[in-house]
Amino acid sequence: MKTAIITGGTSGIGLATAKIFLAQKYNCVLVGRNLSKFEKIKAELFGNFEFIQADVGKISDCEKIISETVKIFGGVDVLINNAGLYTEGAISGVTEKDFDEIFNTNVKGVFFLSRAVFEEIKKRRGSIVNVASDAGIKGNYFCALYAASKGAVVAFTKSLALELANFGVRVNCVAPGDILTPLTLQQLKNSGETVGDLEKIYPVGRIGTAEEVAEAIYFLASEKASFITGTILSVDGGLTA
Ligand code: NAI
Repeated sequence: MKTAIITGGTSGIGLATAKIFLAQKYNCVLVGRNLSKFEKIKAELFGNFEFIQADVGKISDCEKIISETVKIFGGVDVLINNAGLYTEGAISGVTEKDFDEIFNTNVKGVFFLSRAVFEEIKKRRGSIVNVASDAGIKGNYFCALYAASKGAVVAFTKSLALELANFGVRVNCVAPGDILTPLTLQQLKNSGETVGDLEKIYPVGRIGTAEEVAEAIYFLASEKASFITGTILSVDGGLTA
């Protein structure tokens, strides 16, 4: 049986992704900072799964995620670097603390968990999928900090894909547009906007679902994408077309 690690697996896109991998008979490790969040969603999951409580922004936790997964399931075939934090606002209001918080999860976490998994994932000739954003590809107003972090994920994906290609490990990335998840609901609450406001800028006339992103993640991770590495797949209803 294959094993997938999904960070931020107890909510939104990560949870939808875990459900797909479980349906495909993978062992799943859901990584999150909050055990009570896992307890709340556990009944929605069917199959072999474990929760590992960890903050991907800490290198020691990244190493723990891999060693515990190997102890539980014997190896790692797939890593989904999905955990992420969103923020928006004018650059003048961004503090060093804000910067560190966003970069620790969105960049440092993706980087060091990928470093930690390397020895294991190359044994399985597995694959890594990172979750960036349309904001990592094009400019978004009042979004400089988040965009900088997701742009880093895009660039990291491409370079790591080159570095790991010789080992038979593929590295890809999805770049979602607005997706209706707890993250987006919080964003709307903070900005006072509505889903209808977001929908106006989408060529397809709506925002996306977590399942639509999860399907793209699963495709990139699976053997169906065996000749695809270093790619950034937009899942955004035409927003960046
Ligand atoms: P979400 O907030 O529903 O889920 C993210 C999960 O990651 C949460 O459970 C959170 O607690 C966890 N997490 C955050 N920091 C963590 C850390 N340091 N260690 C471990 N877990 C941590 O958000 P959503 O929408 O499912 O987002 C998933 C990914 O998709 C993120 O990387 C986000 O930036 C990206 N994304 C989301 C979009 C959207 O519109 N929802 C659009 C574009 C990208």
